[in-house]
Amino acid sequence: MPTIDYPRLAKTLQALTGNETDTVALMATVTCEVHHADTRFDWTGFYRVVAPELLKIGPYQGGHGCLVIPFAKGVCGAAARSGQTQIVADVEAFPGHIACAASTRSELVVPVHNSDGGLLGVFDIDSDQPDAFTAEDARALEHILAKIFADCPAPTI
Ligand code: SME
Repeated sequence: MPTIDYPRLAKTLQALTGNETDTVALMATVTCEVHHADTRFDWTGFYRVVAPELLKIGPYQGGHGCLVIPFAKGVCGAAARSGQTQIVADVEAFPGHIACAASTRSELVVPVHNSDGGLLGVFDIDSDQPDAFTAEDARALEHILAKIFADCPAPTI
């Protein structure tokens, strides 16, 4: 663990996304590539900032996700309001965790900013395995996301 070849994933994503700046097109492509890159990932997707302090579901893979998450709630909300990546080894020990799937045991949520620091949303990976995510996963995904979403416009809210 981890089993992902992140430099290779970054290269693949760069080749697939090129100069694309449409946020949803990029989110869909990142979700697909990351989800299928590792068997630890049981739900992979984005929540988008759509209103002040409010996230709404974006492109994802896995079972259905909750549609709306206020910044005040859950691991996704914590990432959005703090601007800090959240690694949760045991979701049951996280106060306010939103259980979209009862099978989820651990999570990694990375805030997604453009190059101006505008918050576009969060990238959420859930695993049915406990303690599935490492600091290396977090750093590598932060790096990949920062590059891919650098030129996306901030949400107009
Ligand atoms: N795990 C998230 C909720 C979203 S889903 O699990 C798809 C959270 O607590 O923020």
